[in-house]
Amino acid sequence: MKPVILDVDTGLDDACALLLAARHPELDLKAVTCAGGNVGLDDVVLNTLTVLDAAGRPDVPVARGAAVPLIQPVRMARHVHGADGLGDLDWPRSTRATDPRHAVELLRDVLREAAATGELITLIPLAPLTNIALLLRTYPDAAAGLREIVFMGGAAGIGNATASAEFNIWTDPEAAAIVLAAAGELGVPMTMYGLDVFYDVVVTLEQARALSGSQSAELAQKLIEKRCERYEADGASIGDGGAVCAVIDPSGLTTQPFPVRVELSGSWSRGRTIVDTRDWSADLTSDPHGQAPSTIQVATAVDGKRYAEMWL
Ligand code: BDR
Ligand code: CA
Repeated sequence: MKPVILDVDTGLDDACALLLAARHPELDLKAVTCAGGNVGLDDVVLNTLTVLDAAGRPDVPVARGAAVPLIQPVRMARHVHGADGLGDLDWPRSTRATDPRHAVELLRDVLREAAATGELITLIPLAPLTNIALLLRTYPDAAAGLREIVFMGGAAGIGNATASAEFNIWTDPEAAAIVLAAAGELGVPMTMYGLDVFYDVVVTLEQARALSGSQSAELAQKLIEKRCERYEADGASIGDGGAVCAVIDPSGLTTQPFPVRVELSGSWSRGRTIVDTRDWSADLTSDPHGQAPSTIQVATAVDGKRYAEMWL
């Protein structure tokens, strides 16, 4: 089994990711950490506990993390995910308590233990990267417990929060820059599961409505229905769920190594991931002025059908 941690801002599609990570037989979900993003932190935490309850996984520790981005004010996406972040479903809410540790401390502890045992963790951030930046700046030694980071965020092509920027990176660009730098500074292998593939893992309404027989199947069905409603379509992407599929079966994802930077200024481009796809971009990694971008794996294509079937 592959040990994984999810960092989430649950969110309808984070919920799709949680259900898969909690129930797939090849994953060992060690912990879930929460950050403000799609909705405020209190709602994110409650949604996360609720989804894990539905998945039959009250054993997974869930920790509260950063409520707001490092520098800029919080901006949410209730227009996409509903007022409560979970589509305002008529669904019983969890009464379970969170882990007493801050998300950064929970991450630190699980990663240090992984470094000690050699059972390295795949970290799957699906939210603004605030918690992960705080972790890497506060406890850089914890990176020794990481096998890799596969994060949902960014885009080589167009954005969604703005024409330039994807929501998770746009929400906390400074945190994203810190995490990307860690790929180079701390040698953490990293994959960017961005908007170039994010919308391509689609579950149809018909497929979703055929799900039954368990609480998680019922919730999965409702999540897709809500996303279809939002996009006025008869199918919807599982969004963040695709990043979990990519960890389970990396052969369904095409990636290419590219230098990536985060735009931290710019009037209309703040939060954009600048993916340098030029032929000679590899030369830039030896920049003598210490300004070299980190080269990471960027997802450029996905076998959407295969991942949708896996999720179903
Ligand atoms: C990302 O932003 C959030 O709204 C989704 O949960 C996903 O993580 C897509 O840009
Ligand atoms: Ca998310």
